[in-house]
Amino acid sequence: MRLFLDTASIDEVRDVVRRGILSGVTTNPTLMAKESGVSYRERVVEICETVKGPVSAECVSRELAELLVEARDVASWHPNVVVKIPIDETGLEATSTLAREAIKINMTLVFSANQALLAAIAGATYVSPFVGRIDDAGQDGMEVVREAVEIFDKYHFPSQVLAASLRHPRHVIAAARAGAPIATVPYVVLKAMARHPLTDAGIERFAADARMYQKEPAREQANP
Ligand code: E4P
Repeated sequence: MRLFLDTASIDEVRDVVRRGILSGVTTNPTLMAKESGVSYRERVVEICETVKGPVSAECVSRELAELLVEARDVASWHPNVVVKIPIDETGLEATSTLAREAIKINMTLVFSANQALLAAIAGATYVSPFVGRIDDAGQDGMEVVREAVEIFDKYHFPSQVLAASLRHPRHVIAAARAGAPIATVPYVVLKAMARHPLTDAGIERFAADARMYQKEPAREQANP
């Protein structure tokens, strides 16, 4: 299983890349709106040059012709860019056209297994069910991940389920158990995954105990 970071912050990407656990990044217009003094293109290229792996950048055009122009432009920003397209009928048409041009698509805003199936048939490289937002609507977001994984496996679709909109560390474990090959997680969730209060307490206790013997003067070697 691979972990992607869900962010448009270059500082967050740099911090996680150092740990050697990052395989890619997903961005979206909402995450980008939090950044200032940099264009979307500049930031995506900066992220591509920082992480070795796919970086998703989202299209916002709603008409097919404009969407195709935007998607081809976004794909040209860097070889590692994956074009994010929201699923609807126009998005599916664009995806099947772009997939034939070998442009990688992350089909986003997926809220049902039916949408995931259509995205896979259209040729999306990644399919992103939004687990947290489905949960927010009172349904079981992880069930969509489970169903999509089962369907893709059963019919040998090359599309990969990218579990998205994950809100806490248990979501990541549930996505891993559901067989999602990729989970994209916010920075705070990734930080929380690495921590446990008993680890903190254990490190503190070992450090205190080590100080006990580090303080002792070195014993003289007895002469034989
Ligand atoms: C994924 O590609 C999306 O950018 C993201 O996971 C959405 O998460 P949210 O529902 O917390 O905004």
